[in-house]
Amino acid sequence: MTEDLDAETTRLDKQYVFHSWSAQASLDLPVIAGGEGSVVWDHAGNRLLDFASQLVNVNIGHQHPAVVKAIQDQAAVLATIGPATANLTRGQAAERILSKAGDGFAKVFFTNGGADANENAIRMARLHCAERGDRGRDTVLSTYRSYHGNTGAAIVATGDWRRMPNQYARGHAHFFGPYLYRSEFWATTPEEESARALHHLERVIQSEGPATIAAILLETVPGTAGILIPPPGYLAGVRALCDRYGIVLILDEVMAGFGRTGRWFAFQGYDVVPDLITFAKGVNSGYVPVGGVVISDAISATFDERVFPGGLTYSGHPLAAASIIGSIDAMESEGIVDHARDIGSELLGPGLAALAEKHPVIGEVRGEGVFWALELVSDRETREPVGADVIGKLKKELTARGLLPFAADNRIHVVPPCVVTEDEGVRALAIYDEAFTAVEA
Ligand SMILES: Cc1ncc(COP(=O)(O)O)c(C=O)c1O
Repeated sequence: MTEDLDAETTRLDKQYVFHSWSAQASLDLPVIAGGEGSVVWDHAGNRLLDFASQLVNVNIGHQHPAVVKAIQDQAAVLATIGPATANLTRGQAAERILSKAGDGFAKVFFTNGGADANENAIRMARLHCAERGDRGRDTVLSTYRSYHGNTGAAIVATGDWRRMPNQYARGHAHFFGPYLYRSEFWATTPEEESARALHHLERVIQSEGPATIAAILLETVPGTAGILIPPPGYLAGVRALCDRYGIVLILDEVMAGFGRTGRWFAFQGYDVVPDLITFAKGVNSGYVPVGGVVISDAISATFDERVFPGGLTYSGHPLAAASIIGSIDAMESEGIVDHARDIGSELLGPGLAALAEKHPVIGEVRGEGVFWALELVSDRETREPVGADVIGKLKKELTARGLLPFAADNRIHVVPPCVVTEDEGVRALAIYDEAFTAVEA
């Protein structure tokens, strides 16, 4: 009977559902019927360790009772409300987020997800520049190794292949960020990579024309592009360039924020404070779709007397707001962010480094918290990336052993929920070990 439900789910999905970023005909997707913590299962009860956190968003784990209850309680009181109203739950959600962002931020604009958070941050940056008299500043600079979302400006700000078939909007230019393992700058140390990447960025600013640039949009830690931990001084250097040339700094924390790096916001580990922060995913672990922009004092003041020409029917939806409060409070009281930091430094980091010692296919391990990438190569000397065939085989081996993996290009990203237990971490490391052995054979 339960197997029938799995078959029926697959039939309906193949027949009626149109999926993201895919040719539709050959899709073979796992059936997920339920979950708890870091585990999900199908109707027949086959369990998988969710080391993808779905789309790197279920930071608090599946079905956290406090978040589920917060949504249920809010649904019983008021399930929806228009954006042009004052609502207690919405106000409290904004207050919670601001309390985690630290000094210098005044307000939160809620969106439906991460892409429209970036969309609206870009709009705010351009209008903020115009309001202070810089009318020609339309351009947004972002890196080639980035993903910022699937809407008008956000997809054009994106650096990876997904930008090219969607490149309609004007006002964007790209540059290379730091990535020592595959340095664009012939660097051999993190310090060199940082200094040369900053020099390159300054030359791009000068060449594009500083008076045309509204914003630099950066993922604090580029996620889908490979969990590229910024080298020392890089983000502080970008901040200094923004200040020198009058450019708004937007840090995209959609994937890196709310515990993934072992901090509330990833930027808090660096000597940098942005003008705008975009968030989504981990803010409520996706229990209800939501995202938003945390707005600095100065940019917020721009719109005190000037109309902000943007809005959404579901901006600050009460079920999303309730889930944010439930999630932040539970993360706080249960020490979930600190747990993510510790399990990264004490178990995942050392465990993955040990795997790299054993398996030559792992060219580099990098990350922090519950945000790790294994860069897979066919030759450690040349750093030639493994092909899609190896990644496909590895995904099969991992899934067959009970682990739901996250793969991107030639990499496996090890991105469990922040609540992953030590026991689950140990089990997952053993599964990765076995799967690498199987692929190498
Ligand atoms: C860094 C980053 N920004 C923006 C987005 C887009 O978020 P959403 O899919 O909620 O629109 C993503 C999604 O993966 C992301 O990783």
